[in-house]
Formats: sequence, C-alpha cells, structure tokens
Amino acid sequence: MEKALLEIENPVHKSVMVKEAMEFLCPRPDGIYVDATLGLGGHTEAIFKISGYQTRVIGFDVDDESLSFSKKRLSSFAGRVVFVNKNFSDIQNVLESLGIYEVDGVVADLGMSSFHLEKSGRGFSFLRDEPLDMRMDSRLRFTAYDLVNEMDEEEISKILKIYGEEKWAKRIAREILNYRRETPIKSSIQLADIVLNAIPRQFHPKNIHPATRTFQALRIAVNNELENLERFLEDAVRFLKIGGRIVVISFHSLEDRLVKNTFKRLSSPCVCPPALPGCGCGRKSTLKILTPSPRIPGVGEILNNPRARSAKLRAGEKI
Ligand SMILES: C[S@@+](CC[C@H](N)C(=O)[O-])C[C@H]1O[C@@H](n2cnc3c(N)ncnc32)[C@H](O)[C@@H]1O
Repeated sequence: MEKALLEIENPVHKSVMVKEAMEFLCPRPDGIYVDATLGLGGHTEAIFKISGYQTRVIGFDVDDESLSFSKKRLSSFAGRVVFVNKNFSDIQNVLESLGIYEVDGVVADLGMSSFHLEKSGRGFSFLRDEPLDMRMDSRLRFTAYDLVNEMDEEEISKILKIYGEEKWAKRIAREILNYRRETPIKSSIQLADIVLNAIPRQFHPKNIHPATRTFQALRIAVNNELENLERFLEDAVRFLKIGGRIVVISFHSLEDRLVKNTFKRLSSPCVCPPALPGCGCGRKSTLKILTPSPRIPGVGEILNNPRARSAKLRAGEKI
C-alpha cells in the first residue's frame, strides 16, 4: 500500500497525508465513501487503489475547474464516482437526493489546493499579480475585491483579526482605506504591498510572508469557510454507519480548533444539569475520537511538499 500511496501526486497538486488518511479511513472493498473536497482527486484515487472493485465515492467540490481535472484523473474508475459541484455543507441534501442514508467513511482535506494558488488566476497568492477574486466557488456573489473595496475600516479590521488572527489588523485596515481613496485595490500584489507597508518592517514575521494572515482571512470570509465546515462536520457524522470513520485534514489553527471542538462535543454525552430549563436533550456521544492529539506529516513529506507543513489530521469513529 505504501508505494502506491506515495505515488498520489500530480504536477498541479501533491495530496497531503494520504497514507495516514487511508490508515484511519480503512476503506472497505464495497463501501460508500464521501470525499468532501475532491480537488484534484488524490484521496479518492487512494481509496480506489487500496479497496476493491465495488467501492463508490461521492466527491464534492465547489470549484468546477478542479472537478473537471479530477474527472479526467479518475476516468479509469468511471461509474464509481459521483461528482458533485456543491458545497460540502450541503452533504445532507445531496446524499438524500442520491438515496444514500449512511456511508462507510468521510474524508475532508480542507482549504484550497496548489492549483488554486498557482494556476487558477484568482488572486489566492500574494506572490502573483492576479485579480483579487479568491472565490473557490465562482457562483458566490462577493469576491475579495468587493470586500477590500466596499467594507468599512472596522469591518475589514474585524475580518483580519478574527479570520487571520492578525495583530496588525487595525493598521492594515487603515492602510487599505487610505489606498483605496486614491484608486481601487484590484490585484493580489497591490494588496500584499499595502500589508507590507502597514506592518512596521521590524515586526515583519520571520517565517511567513507578512501578508499570509490577511490573505487567509479574506479567503475564509469570501468562501464562508468556517460556517460551512461547522455545518458539514455535524451532518457528516450523522451520516456515518456505526464503525464508519471521518478523517479531516486542516491547514490553520481556526479550522483545526473547530474540528477538535466539534469532535469533542460529539464524543461527550449531554452534561446539561437536569434542572436546566428547556434541556432534556438526552444527547448521547456519537463519536469516538481516534486522534487524542492531531497527527502531523512526517519530515519526508514536508521536504517533498512544503505545503504539507501546516497540516493536522484528526479522525473519529461513529459509535
Ligand atoms: C486541499 S484541496 C483537496 C485536494 C484533494 N484531496 C487531492 O488530493 O487532490 C481542497 C478542495 O476542496 C474544495 N473545497 C473547499 N471548500 C469546499 C467546500 N466547502 N465544499 C466543497 N468543496 C470545497 C476546493 O475547491 C479544493 O479543490
């Protein structure tokens, strides 16, 4: 299995923690799996490579360009993948519309892919001169351009603080407002330069580009990432068979915290005091946590794929 899984890479995107994800997912020969973030198809390809001929995958992706790529890549497994161009937060409706009421496992490899950063031309990277879009789903109404050019200073600052944990949020927001009084902020490089100017040089972080947190914050806001993730996690666990597993790979602390806390909540029974008005939920624990602390990639993977360095994998089993 190991050699096959190490080959799960392609020129556009190297899949992250595939071996660990498959160890936790343990795909069965005739199971039904959800790949909530199909992307370039790496994790789904791994599921097919290590399971039998009857496994099926329901693969979600909001990005139609990524879906066209994975359709080509997975063409040899045609008929065994249902490609769904929808948000994973819609998992309940999608599965029910397919007549599926329980699944053997769910994998989610969150965020954007290297395709988005390097080839999509949508302004995800502060190193490229591209229009400020940042939508993974082209059907969304607002782009990063709309946010930085239309929101007021306080709203921008709040987004940078909450979604980017950026301690220079106020200064960056003020600099954005000053700049756009002269001319609209149209490109990713313009925005990156604004951030570089806003943070005093002696406080530029050493290990990341100073604009990293601003770009993360805007991307999260544009794509409504945390709300979608929260809704997805609850519903995904509900659809797991007893013994079915959920594996989630996240790339920043806000996502990881949300996964950790949701797993924790689902793994503990209701502790509301009996006298609490309105409570009588009687909620039982539905998840056994398989990763008391998150798994991280090995040094070899990080050297081979620097994008993996911030990955954290958490897994749980339906009980
Ligand atoms: C890190 S990539 C997945 C890569 C994939 N596992 C592979 O190995 O090729 C994440 C993908 O999830 C998609 N995505 C992000 N958020 C989503 C959401 N809420 N619903 C559906 N797809 C989403 C992105 O468009 C992107 O293609």
